[in-house]
Amino acid sequence: MPRITPRSPIKASNHFSRLIKSVLDKRHETASHKTYLKTMAEKDKFQEWPIKRNLQEYNDCFSIALQKLRLGRDIPDYLKRRYQRTKEPVIVLDLGGGAGYFLADLKKLFNSQQIPSKLESLSLYDNLSPESQRLIDKKHIISASEQKLTKKYDLIVDVFSAINFEFDSVKKNLILKYAYSLKKGGTLLLAGIYKSPESKNNISAHLRKQGFIAEFIDQIDNPFVNDKKTVLVITRK
Ligand SMILES: C[S@@+](CC[C@H](N)C(=O)[O-])C[C@H]1O[C@@H](n2cnc3c(N)ncnc32)[C@H](O)[C@@H]1O
Repeated sequence: MPRITPRSPIKASNHFSRLIKSVLDKRHETASHKTYLKTMAEKDKFQEWPIKRNLQEYNDCFSIALQKLRLGRDIPDYLKRRYQRTKEPVIVLDLGGGAGYFLADLKKLFNSQQIPSKLESLSLYDNLSPESQRLIDKKHIISASEQKLTKKYDLIVDVFSAINFEFDSVKKNLILKYAYSLKKGGTLLLAGIYKSPESKNNISAHLRKQGFIAEFIDQIDNPFVNDKKTVLVITRK
């Protein structure tokens, strides 16, 4: 019988997982981080969050940013353009997918348009709705800081979830871990990065130095906009 060997994690994912571990160790935060993740998973189990966003609500978070960067009209349009260019199935990871309504809606749309897709959700606890269980191709029940990635993605999206809830000390390496898990031209969309203008400049400058296109964009063209409406878009060149 031929032996099936699981795919090994991609190098960048391993590198940043190690960095995350060493930062936590150095700051003596390893034990409190473990306890924190356990508590968060427990909260998830009892669904202490009432919000379950669908495709429309994810688009509400990112469509202005995608249009400003000329990446597409909205999330499906961005992915459809990639499919037309590459002719490869579009691979998407929802970091902190919750009930999975976003991915389920996306799958139904792509199925109706005959666009091949592989849609994956990552969560601390399996809260996928019955329909999401049926439609989503793969679920990862693990924390973002511990996940070992074995493939690259066209789109990774995080709406007020995994990166937002993580310890501040691991956020930068977590963002880099997922940015390096993008295919060329692939995009990471993040909502919920609350930072001062100065640290936003530092974050985007750091990402640009690493060879990414990185922009914080206000969803609403209004100088008094609530910081919650600012999203970070990272594209791998
Ligand atoms: C409030 S729900 C949001 C779900 C979805 N993004 C939405 O907008 O409807 C938070 C999700 O983030 C996940 N999450 C929180 N911290 C995480 C972490 N460190 N690693 C992975 N997932 C995490 C939870 O398991 C849950 O699925």
